[in-house]
This record gives sequence, structure tokens and C-alpha cells, in this order.
Amino acid sequence: LEVWVFVSCSCRSRVGAQEVLWDMSIQPASLVERIQAIAQNVSNMASRVEQILQNSIVQEGSSSQCEVPRDPRYPECPGKVDWMRARWTSDPCYAFYGVDGSDCSFLIYLSEVEWFCPPLAWRNHSSLPTQFTQQQTKAPRRQAAFRTDLSVLLDQVGTGQESLSFMKRRIRRLAQQWATAANHLDAKLEQRWRDQKKILVHVGFLTEESGDVFSPKVLKGGPLGEMVQWADILTSLHVLGHNLKISMSLKDLQGFLGVPPGRGSCPLTGPLPFDLIYTDYHGLQQMKQHMGLSLKKHKCHIRVIDTFGTEPAYNHEEYATLHGYRTNWGYWNLDSRQYMTMFPHTPDNSFMGFVSEELNDTEKRSIQQNKVNNMAVVYGKEPSMWKGKEGFLQILHRYMEVHGTVYYETQRPPEVPAFVKNHGLLPQHELQQLLRKAKLFIGFGFPYEGPAPLEAIANGCIFLQPKFNPPHSSLNHEFFRGKPTSRQVSAQHPYAEQYIGKPHVITVDFNNTEEFEAAIREIMSAKVEPYLPYEYTCEGMLERVHAYIQNQTCSAPNEAHPGVGKQLGPMFVPLSNSTALGWSPNVPPPAAWPPLRALRLLVSQEGQSCVEACQRAGLVCERAHFHYINSKEALHALEVQCEVVDSEMNHILPAFSVMRRECGLQREALLFSCAGHSPKYRRLCPCRDFRQGQVALCRDCL
Ligand SMILES: *[C@@H]1O[C@H](CO)[C@@H](O)[C@H](O)[C@H]1NC(C)=O
Ligand SMILES: *[C@@H]1O[C@H](CO)[C@@H](O)[C@H](O)[C@H]1NC(C)=O
Ligand SMILES: *[C@@H]1O[C@H](CO)[C@@H](O)[C@H](O)[C@H]1NC(C)=O
Ligand SMILES: *[C@@H]1O[C@H](CO)[C@@H](O)[C@H](O)[C@H]1NC(C)=O
Ligand SMILES: *[C@@H]1O[C@H](CO)[C@@H](O)[C@H](O)[C@H]1NC(C)=O
Repeated sequence: LEVWVFVSCSCRSRVGAQEVLWDMSIQPASLVERIQAIAQNVSNMASRVEQILQNSIVQEGSSSQCEVPRDPRYPECPGKVDWMRARWTSDPCYAFYGVDGSDCSFLIYLSEVEWFCPPLAWRNHSSLPTQFTQQQTKAPRRQAAFRTDLSVLLDQVGTGQESLSFMKRRIRRLAQQWATAANHLDAKLEQRWRDQKKILVHVGFLTEESGDVFSPKVLKGGPLGEMVQWADILTSLHVLGHNLKISMSLKDLQGFLGVPPGRGSCPLTGPLPFDLIYTDYHGLQQMKQHMGLSLKKHKCHIRVIDTFGTEPAYNHEEYATLHGYRTNWGYWNLDSRQYMTMFPHTPDNSFMGFVSEELNDTEKRSIQQNKVNNMAVVYGKEPSMWKGKEGFLQILHRYMEVHGTVYYETQRPPEVPAFVKNHGLLPQHELQQLLRKAKLFIGFGFPYEGPAPLEAIANGCIFLQPKFNPPHSSLNHEFFRGKPTSRQVSAQHPYAEQYIGKPHVITVDFNNTEEFEAAIREIMSAKVEPYLPYEYTCEGMLERVHAYIQNQTCSAPNEAHPGVGKQLGPMFVPLSNSTALGWSPNVPPPAAWPPLRALRLLVSQEGQSCVEACQRAGLVCERAHFHYINSKEALHALEVQCEVVDSEMNHILPAFSVMRRECGLQREALLFSCAGHSPKYRRLCPCRDFRQGQVALCRDCL
């Protein structure tokens, strides 16, 4: 019908042209102009008609081409088309990709931009831009070169918020140390080829959209651990020579990723322009809101900086929901090694860490000479951390001069007793001077697992901290509640206790007054050297991050046919054809990293986790190796007699019950867990060796 209207309209125009001729004879002056104008109108209209005719022919002719296909390989297609019919206007991004309300446009979109429907045979696929064909042309490999000049990085960090100034001050202060470390590592790696990666760092918690609650507290004793760590991550990536983009706002994130205009329901406009994206839980949430399906597709490239760690049981959405592990933060279905922690407390995750300031030998000697044996500094910049600690402080004061660095505005905070010499919040170099003189750095239980004790120990202090009995965890302590881990925190700073220990660290029950006093006396007479574990030096961090970037791989998902292959990474080889998470089955095992020669198969006691079992043997649980021990052969090798070999989804598997003569293998690779334990089961544990001072890396890992 439309066509006829326009055709007749076109005829009328021709009539109009005749009228012009008639008109012409009367008013010859405007003749030329009018002819031109009318001719223009006529020709415009003709071409519009032609266009409309053509479109309608395409639609008529292809109405069968745009029938919703019933293809068992694309079961979601009809449902998605229905959804599009009802909701395609809900986000302008659909129109951006050419959706106009017609079924053809839905099918084109759902097959070429998303991947729920089969490709349409009549579309010219060779003419489609790359985001539609999903083919990523491999850029040529480039070699990364160490950088010792940090000025470009400092410019990239930008200005504005107080947190950025804090990070920049830190980067500048440690610049020399980073440069020296870069030269050492460069020499150590002996010209080895290192791929230069394109890396995006999106610091979610500093974005305005997530509230940037930190900036206002930087100058008031607020927690700085996260900012310390981000500053060091940025510096490591820069120094290692990677191609770095930094985003601290939603707008930057959208721009860097190529988010189409709209509300974020659609995939990105092109292939992911990064090899790796470092972010945090806030940033992950933002990426989920703005990347549509692309987040799932590019999941492999993401690394989540996660201070306290995420255990596999909490990370697997379906499992967490069914078994009571659901929290505000978990259930992202990542490989748990994609979570990177502040301390090496959760071997299911990767240990990212941070660095502490290093001293040269001259400085170390001068510290030894200037120590004041009866000087103690209390760990805790906020008055609330001192609340209820008068008893301990009184005892301490009987032996030592007590110093504090508690933030205050005008007067002494009431929580800080009068005998305490409070310096107020100190700038970094003054705090360091104080620590260099002090003999004791004492924690009263909070904050947990921060950077300050390492700094104190590096400046020759002894760190005295409370043992927690029972341990604190998400089950019994408000602070950990809702965190995706059930890790038992046995002291204020478990790393200090386990990895450093005496004489630098003393962990006692503070409620046992005798023990507490004995510890203080011991400290006053002890002589200790400044100490910093290698993994917290710049070189140690560079070495670790280098190894992760070069060898902790995860191949891109099957980008050519994402509808069929969906997601996949050899790093995350699944064992079943469970498609719940979109990982593809039946993939040949990848070249292992850490190398398999580091693997030691152990069996835990009943009730013991693999974290503990490996630790008892002087080893560390290696989650990457579960894949290789999840087999009947492993059970045979251990001479386990079992009646049933079953494959289930349970985070304690592979495991067996001696009493029940029952064995179980793991069906879901995402649930391999060093942390899991059960009173009835003995677990098969993949343990490995580690480098002295660098627990993240096995001896042959570099
Ligand atoms: C040409 O078309 C425009 C509107 O499309 C109209 O305003 C104008 O009067 C037309 N010119 C002539 C000469 O018919
Ligand atoms: C498909 O598109 C390409 C690139 O635009 C063009 O060269 C080719 O001729 C087209 N093929 C068909 C069959 O239209
Ligand atoms: C040690 O560090 C201090 C101050 O940071 C510096 O003045 C001194 O030259 C350094 N000494 C050596 C031997 O590098
Ligand atoms: C000391 O005991 C009290 C109450 O018995 C308890 O609340 C507190 O956590 C204990 N402190 C330490 C450091 O163990
Ligand atoms: C790390 O990966 C590189 C290639 O990127 C390879 O040459 C090297 O052997 C790997 N190292 C280990 C220990 O697997």
C-alpha cells in the first residue's frame, strides 16, 4: 500500500512539472530558479520512492529469511526474539546496532552482535565490521622493556582526589627503589623475551560512582592499604614495560572498552582492546552493568584485586546459592586464581601483594645504633581502634614509653590515655623516623592484615600481636561478615605469624597477662635486625607479577563461534560438559604452569583442608594442579579402596571417606578448592614447593 501511495505521489509530481511549464509562460523572470527547485524536488522524491520500493521488496522477499529459526544449537533464540520485540526500545544501544523494530533487525542483531541466534545465510559476512564476525586479528607480539622513569606513569594517574595525590606521593618516594629492582630483575631474567601486554587498570573503588569513600579519609587516618597496593600494582605494570591505560571513572572505563551509547545492555563495539584488565569488586560490578554479554565473553582477561580473598565455594554462583555460600561479593564464576590478594593467605587465589620501603646496609646499621629499647608505637590511626584497650596499655606503660599516631583535630581523643605520647597522624617519612627508633610495634587486634606491620618490621621493630582464639571469620565477626571466604584468621596479622615469626613477630594471647608481660620483657632485651621478606620488596613484586603476566595464561574464548563454543580457557579446563557456566568441554589439557614437576600429591586428614595439609608438609596447595589429580588413577596410586567413584559438584572433591569406603571426583573445575574441608572426608591435595621468600612461585616457575 505504501508503495502505491508514493508511486501516485510521484505521478502527481510529474503533473506538477507540467504546471510549471504553464506557469513559466506567465512569469519568465523566476523561470530558471523555479525549474531548478522543482526539478530538485522531483528528483528527491523519486529517489525516496526508489529507496522505499527497494526496502519493501527486500522485506517482502525476505520475510521467510527473517522467520525465527528453530535450531537446537541455539535454543535461546526464539525467546530472545520475543524479548527484543517487547523491549528493544529499553536501551538505545539496540538502535545503535541497527535494530529498528523489525524481525529482520532482531535476528541480525541476535546473530551478529550477540550470539543467541544462528548466522543468517543471506547476510554478506565478509562485509561485516570485526565486532560482528568476532574475529580478532592478532596484533604482532612486542617485547616489553623495563622502564625506570616513572614520569609518564605519574601523569597517567592524574590529579584531583586526595587518594590520587597519596598514590603519587608513594610512587615518587619509591621511585629509586623501583628503578634498582628493575635493573636487578632485568639482569636476572637474562634478556628473556617478555610479551608486552595491553593492560587496563580500572580502580573501581576510587570512582565517583562507587562513592570514593576513601579520599576524604586519606588525611584522617582512614585505611590506606588498598591505595598502597594499587599504587604498587600500577608501578609494577609500568616498570615491567607494559602498555598501560588507567581508569578511575566510569566514563574512562566506557571509553577504553568501547561501550556503545545507551544503558549498557549491549556488547562492546569491537574486540576487547586489552589483554588484561585489573580491577576490584566495585569495578567488576561496573563492568557487568556496562559490558552486556561481553563481560562473560572476556571474563578470562579480568583480574580482581581482592584484599581478603574469595574461596571457590563462594565464587560458583549455583553452588553458592544452593549451599549457603552466597554473599554480597562472591558468585562471579571466575577461576579463583583470577582473584588477587594482599597477602598469600588463600592459595586458591593468586597472591598480588604490595611493597615495603627497603633499607640499604648503611641505614640498617644506623637503625641498630639508634634503637630506644623502651619505646613502643601502637598500631592504629583511628581512635576507635584504641577503645577498650586501657588494660593492655596500662601494662605496656609499666615497661615502656607508649607512642601513638592517632588522628585528631583539636584535642586528644578520649580513647587515648594521657600517658600515651600521641604524635597525631604523621607524614610517611616522620612515621618512618619514629619506627626506626621504636623497639616495639604493637597491634591490639584491628586493623586486620594491613601493610603497617611489615613496614615496622622492615624498620627493625618487633611486632607484638594478639592471637585470636577462637579465630575470627565471616561466621563470627562483623568485619568479615559477607566476605566471600570462611578463612579462619588466627591473629591480627597471620602472615606475620606464619611467614616471618620470631624474633621479628611475637603472637600471644593478650588476655593472658603473664604471657603478655613476658613477651614485652623479651622484646625489650632482644636484638633484631630490620627484615623484609623478598616477596614484599620491589624486585619480589616485579618478579611475581612478571611470572603471572607471562605464564598464568587463559586463552581467549572461542571468538569465531561464540554461540557454540562459548567461553573457554585452557587455564580453566572443565572436566564435565556442564554448560552452566559457559565453559566449553573436552579441551586438551594445557601446558601446565606451575610446571607439573613441582606437583606433590598428598592426602589430608579428615577435617583438614588442603591449605593445611600442604602447609604441614612444608609445601603450598597449588590449585592449578587439581585437574591432574582428579582421577581414578590418582586414587589407585594412593591405594585407596573405594566402592563408588562418583563425579559430583562439591568443593571438597576429589576426596574419599575411609569409613564409608567412598570416593568422589570433582565434576566442576571452578569448584576445585584448596580451602575446602569436611570432617568425614580425606582430601586429595595437589601441593608444590615454593621459592624461599616468594611463596607464589615454585622453584621452576620462572
Ligand atoms: C519543494 O519541497 C519543499 C518541501 O519538501 C516545499 O516547501 C517547496 O515549496 C517545494 N518547492 C517547489 C518549487 O515546489
Ligand atoms: C560482500 O561485501 C564485500 C565487502 O564489502 C564485497 O567486496 C563483496 O562483493 C560482497 N559480496 C556480495 C555477494 O555481495
Ligand atoms: C643509603 O641510603 C641513604 C639515604 O636513603 C643514602 O644517603 C646513602 O647514600 C645510601 N647508602 C648506600 C651505601 O647506598
Ligand atoms: C580477651 O577476652 C575478651 C573477653 O573474654 C574477648 O572479648 C577479647 O576478644 C579477648 N582479646 C583477645 C585479644 O583475645
Ligand atoms: C612462561 O611462558 C613463556 C612463553 O610466554 C615460556 O617460554 C616459558 O617457558 C614459560 N615458563 C615456564 C616456567 O613455564
